[in-house]
Amino acid sequence: MKKNTEMPKIKVILVMALTADGFTARSSSEYTDWTSAADKKLFFDLSGKAGVVIMGNNTFKTLKAPLKNRLNIVMGKNELKTADAGVRFFSGNPLVLLEELESQGFKEVVLCGGAATNTVFFKMGLIDEAVFTISPLMFGRGISVFSEEINCDLVLKKFDKIDENTVMLRYLFKKEKS
Ligand SMILES: NC(=O)c1ccc[n+]([C@@H]2O[C@H](COP(=O)([O-])OP(=O)(O)OC[C@H]3O[C@@H](n4cnc5c(N)ncnc54)[C@H](OP(=O)(O)O)[C@@H]3O)[C@@H](O)[C@H]2O)c1
Repeated sequence: MKKNTEMPKIKVILVMALTADGFTARSSSEYTDWTSAADKKLFFDLSGKAGVVIMGNNTFKTLKAPLKNRLNIVMGKNELKTADAGVRFFSGNPLVLLEELESQGFKEVVLCGGAATNTVFFKMGLIDEAVFTISPLMFGRGISVFSEEINCDLVLKKFDKIDENTVMLRYLFKKEKS
């Protein structure tokens, strides 16, 4: 689904690392530690440029620490006993969140999973672009980019070999088919 004119103009870029057989994790508690240095650099460059990342609570729980030098928005209830600098929990309407970020001056935001959170944003027509990196390994089964069936056309904007074994694909989201 394409953004309509009443939606915030802030650009939402979905950034996900995939295995060669299309999975993002083996389970919802797995930390993404299987990507290359070039992949990690790409993620930090994109999210650093945006200055803000949005992730689901399950993904946040897999991290050893919040991502440094950028605002971490965690979709879900705050289960932390202490306040973490640079982390904000949000359990309301994603549209309201994007409006708030836009009013704070952010021009783009990196949406970085997991599948459940990506699906919420997709179903509201909030995702503009996707950057997928394909790493040289396969899981056979696991978690996909989305947690539900979706139907979406993409336009390939850019592709690149970011290291010996890893490919980056950048897509524009067109529209959700009915
Ligand atoms: N390969 C990659 O690039 C990559 C990137 C990111 C994640 N991952 C993997 O993906 C897995 C996690 O994915 P997942 O689908 O299980 O979970 P997830 O999307 O990270 O988190 C889901 C949780 O987020 C909260 N949530 C999401 N949308 C919400 C909304 N609109 N309002 C309120 N709360 C909301 C809910 O938590 P509560 O209700 O419990 O608070 C929900 O249970 C992990 O294994 C992680 O490693 C991989």
